[in-house]
Amino acid sequence: MAITFDASKKIFKLDTVSTSYAFAVHSEGYLLHLYYGAYLPDNNLLSMLDRGMFASFSPDNPNCIASGFSPDVQPSEYSVNGTGDFRVSALQICNRNGDISTDVRYVSHRILAEKPALCGLPSLRDENGDSETLEVTTRDSVTGAVVKLYYTVYSDLPVMTRSAVIENDSDAVMELERVYSTCLELPTMDYDMVHLYGKWFKERTVTERPLCHGIQSIASKRGSSSHNHNPFVALKKHGSSEESGEVYGVNLVYSGNFAIDIEVDGFNTTRLIAGINPTDFTWRLEPGESFTAPEAVMVYTDKGVGEMSRIFHRTYRKHLIKSPWRDIERPVLINSWEAAYFDFDDDKLVAFAHEAAKMGVDMLVMDDGWFGHRNLDDSSLGDWYVNETKLKGGLAKLIDRVNAEGLKFGIWYEPEMISPDSDLYRAHPDWCLHVRGRENSPARMQYVLDMSRKDVRDNIFEQMCSVLQNNKIDYVKWDFNRNITEAGSALLPPERQKEIMHRFVLGTYELMDRFVKAFPDILFENCSGGGGRFDPGMLYYSPQIWCSDNTDAIERLTIQFGTSMCYPVSTFGAHVAARPRTPLSTRANVAMCGTFGYELDPRKLTEEEKAQVREQIQDYRKYNRLVREGDLYRLIAPTDDAFRCAWEFVSPDKNEAMLTSVVMRMPETMFYVQRLRGLDPEKLYTDTDTGEVYSGALLMNAGVNLTRAVYQDGESVVKHFVAK
Ligand code: GLA
Repeated sequence: MAITFDASKKIFKLDTVSTSYAFAVHSEGYLLHLYYGAYLPDNNLLSMLDRGMFASFSPDNPNCIASGFSPDVQPSEYSVNGTGDFRVSALQICNRNGDISTDVRYVSHRILAEKPALCGLPSLRDENGDSETLEVTTRDSVTGAVVKLYYTVYSDLPVMTRSAVIENDSDAVMELERVYSTCLELPTMDYDMVHLYGKWFKERTVTERPLCHGIQSIASKRGSSSHNHNPFVALKKHGSSEESGEVYGVNLVYSGNFAIDIEVDGFNTTRLIAGINPTDFTWRLEPGESFTAPEAVMVYTDKGVGEMSRIFHRTYRKHLIKSPWRDIERPVLINSWEAAYFDFDDDKLVAFAHEAAKMGVDMLVMDDGWFGHRNLDDSSLGDWYVNETKLKGGLAKLIDRVNAEGLKFGIWYEPEMISPDSDLYRAHPDWCLHVRGRENSPARMQYVLDMSRKDVRDNIFEQMCSVLQNNKIDYVKWDFNRNITEAGSALLPPERQKEIMHRFVLGTYELMDRFVKAFPDILFENCSGGGGRFDPGMLYYSPQIWCSDNTDAIERLTIQFGTSMCYPVSTFGAHVAARPRTPLSTRANVAMCGTFGYELDPRKLTEEEKAQVREQIQDYRKYNRLVREGDLYRLIAPTDDAFRCAWEFVSPDKNEAMLTSVVMRMPETMFYVQRLRGLDPEKLYTDTDTGEVYSGALLMNAGVNLTRAVYQDGESVVKHFVAK
């Protein structure tokens, strides 16, 4: 059984195929963490709690003086504030008296043969009963705060999820000031913290630094997970690498303000907490109400950072992404944005479709600029009706014409936004987030709708439905193009204004949920000024997310490598653009590591380029299953090497592999041998281009000589191998 409770020792043990996680119920009811790491057959772990001598400054529990116990030094399953644990708290509640002391103790537990959904929040799913969930209930006997901790393990993957539900079992209001989702304790500090930083046009660059004493954090308070930090951290044991060594990965299924804090204390132990950012947050919990914290996904492996990523990828492909498109080859699309920006009409779009069809493209996506009177980014968000001056004869007619060219049709929306210059704003100026008496700060000349309001969501839903229901639309790009400022809601009383950032995210999730249920066949792609909201919360609703507005193939390498830390490449919106720094072939080879499509004016391609595009699309169809379902091996990271970047996909049965190598800058030497990974050493693989046959052992140990294949700036090569 995956989850066990040893009643004699009062130890919970949660096992996966290759990991174990254990914690104990202390005689006084505290939940104390014992272990997370490689699989253990037994549970003789209580000695882990002996932390040696500590000072009289560390508070005792009155019932266990002299037993060597203090909340100050013990590893906690869910750290609370104000009662002896001075490290970062997962939970802080302002109680009826205004104090912020909480002390929760074990009450009961249940082991469930299923994975309960999280109220109002996206979360991983169970498929065919392949998971078990532990629910542990704890309670503060003074305040009536009930904390339920949820842990799920899967039978087929070394992954676990955690979340927490706080209930108010008292007759007074409580104010939740911090509610994190998980608390991970490690007995040492010899780890590097790996995370993804960036900005617009340069998202998710991998960076790492050794842990040091004190608190180190990443966070967003921009209203979305953001371009700047991703809700992901890995703790990599010193000396671990891409291919070997211990790594813990934590990723939060949340699209709003998050924080991941890591504290190293004077005992050189490490505590990581991940959850909703407590800055700008307080939640009033009325008697009888409950609050659900988002889910955290945790991976442990002793096989390096690459294996951690592959575990996340398999997990998200199987248990997170819901869309029926998850396992299907996605249409090759051509998007109008970089081809035309706002300067298009029906005839131009049909001309795009006409040229694109000849090259084998499947779908035309009409990006921003088709609605209201939007000819620039300064108006009309919220007015989701067709601009018939641009699209003469209306949308249905345009779609008919595009369909007649043999292409499907997709459309762009930015549902959470409102332009001050819009009919919607003129009719409902209080529908945007705003603070009484203060002027809103525009960003991209737009404001943010108050998604916490049902009337607002209903209006947007109805407007969009009337377009989606009455037209043959196969794809929706859902954009979100600014950060949130002046975060206030006209409907919330003053004491609830600090709930708005979370309520906004809940509202967005509710609206997305309505759409995916109402239009199950539509392919949704998320976007936020490129990849400003690339997180598991969004992946729950859409199987792909536009990775970045930066479509330069060399820049994309860093962005896509960073994104692959925890997100599967089948989710990366990646297109070939008219950015001639690299040859067209390299732009396609890089976009092939993603959903694949084009972001250019097809009429401007030369005949030779059109022939190349035709071939690229055939290659996409040939390789897509391998890219979508295969295991990714990052061979040379663009942040580790000044000259080259290389990666490889291997099919789950190891019968097929594809290697891509790109020259970022002309290397010192032409000589270049690339070793592969993840193959079966015993199998014989044929290079489908040359017909040469190599053993897997040879390809992994001697490698493939690419000396004459890639040398000049921006060049790239793809090698495809099939087992006999
Ligand atoms: C964002 C997206 C782009 C495009 C524009 C349209 O920046 O990332 O792809 O859709 O919005 O305004």
